[in-house]
Amino acid sequence: MQQEDVKQTYEISAKSVKDNLRTKILGSEVKVFDTINSTSTYLKENDCKNGEVVVALHQSAGRGRKGRSFLSNSNRGVYFSFILNTNIDFEKLSLVTIWVAVAVVRSFKSVYNIEVDIKWVNDIFYNNKKLGGILTETILLSKEQKVDKLIIGIGLNTGKVADEISDIAISIEEILNKSENTNNENKISQNLRNNLISEILNNFEEIYLSCTDTSRSENPKIINEYKKQLFFLNKEVTVIGQETFKAKAIDLNEKGELIIKNKQDELITLNSGEISIKL
Ligand code: BTN
Repeated sequence: MQQEDVKQTYEISAKSVKDNLRTKILGSEVKVFDTINSTSTYLKENDCKNGEVVVALHQSAGRGRKGRSFLSNSNRGVYFSFILNTNIDFEKLSLVTIWVAVAVVRSFKSVYNIEVDIKWVNDIFYNNKKLGGILTETILLSKEQKVDKLIIGIGLNTGKVADEISDIAISIEEILNKSENTNNENKISQNLRNNLISEILNNFEEIYLSCTDTSRSENPKIINEYKKQLFFLNKEVTVIGQETFKAKAIDLNEKGELIIKNKQDELITLNSGEISIKL
């Protein structure tokens, strides 16, 4: 059930998201649901327009990376996904999440004046706590090993986080309540949630087009921007993969792979598909 009238309750609407868009592709259609299983699953299972955006205030089966579930409670967050036709090379796929993360960082800065951190590869953090996450999925052309569509889902904690995760998660509301110089009521207004969605779409489209245009690839610039927000660089981390071990996070290469140094002083390049990092 699509709930356009949801805006009366939650003041989030397709129109207000669309009003702030400066995109050519993203937002060709914007749908707002009060509840849905998962905005990304919706885009996977339905015949959607290129650039279609689906927003929900609650997901009954929100999904995270590596098949994990993603807690998506009513009024505690904003959950949205978009679909993009693409012919992106396989080798560049691992960069897409990095581009989305930079779009999220830029948007938090411009909408809320909040400087958020990134935990490689897909987590948005603030003060060592998770503020949101990104899930990048692909639809492949069946015969050829080619990417046909990207489905990008973003979940952000906006209202108070659930008690059971309050030691590891944080929300926009909690960040703004702690900051002294903000007019909380104004900043927290639902309009800004609409703006945040629009800004993320605006920023991502711009980054995606500039990074996939071979004549002016801006990828190195975006990688640098991402690196600046990686709060665990030069710190000790725990690498969790086939083996678990402690190492120092050293750098991020142009493919978005993390370079770490183990206790034997060997440099190891990690691909995000294989491992997770714990601080
Ligand atoms: C993660 O933290 O592992 C990624 C979380 C991604 C959650 C978003 S919410 C919108 C979209 N729909 C989903 O089911 N998942 C993504």
